[in-house]
Amino acid sequence: MEKLNKLLEEYEKERGSLIGLLQDIHEEFGYLPEEYLREASRRLNIPLSRFYSLVTFYSTFRLEPIGKHHVCACVGTACHVRGAPLIVDTIERELGIKAGETSEDGEYTLDVVNCVGACALGPLVTVDGEFHGKMTQKSIKKLMKKN
Ligand code: FES
Repeated sequence: MEKLNKLLEEYEKERGSLIGLLQDIHEEFGYLPEEYLREASRRLNIPLSRFYSLVTFYSTFRLEPIGKHHVCACVGTACHVRGAPLIVDTIERELGIKAGETSEDGEYTLDVVNCVGACALGPLVTVDGEFHGKMTQKSIKKLMKKN
């Protein structure tokens, strides 16, 4: 809460944009904890619904903490034509979660992204920021078992 208080104090002083405050909280904690949104709403006297309308509009905001391992499957055009949808399906089956979800044990979060700038390596998957290119069903299963 101390860090949140600091961010709220800064916002109160400068009266910056609400979206900027949300970005700062998100950056600090890796997601937007509900209790923090409630506290910000109370302190700033801004309806909680205003916070949630922004949070749900911008898909970059996360309301749940990220898992221990962050798996990102690229579904940009180059990866898509090389089989990214099948890779995403395989990861979802292996991890038992859908894209955008975190496993119940908190081990994995799966996201899909649009092009990470390494199109020649498609279909591409990153695990905790590490690139894994030219994925096949076999290699992605092996990679998911390794992590
Ligand atoms: S489309 Fe996947 S890295 Fe560019």
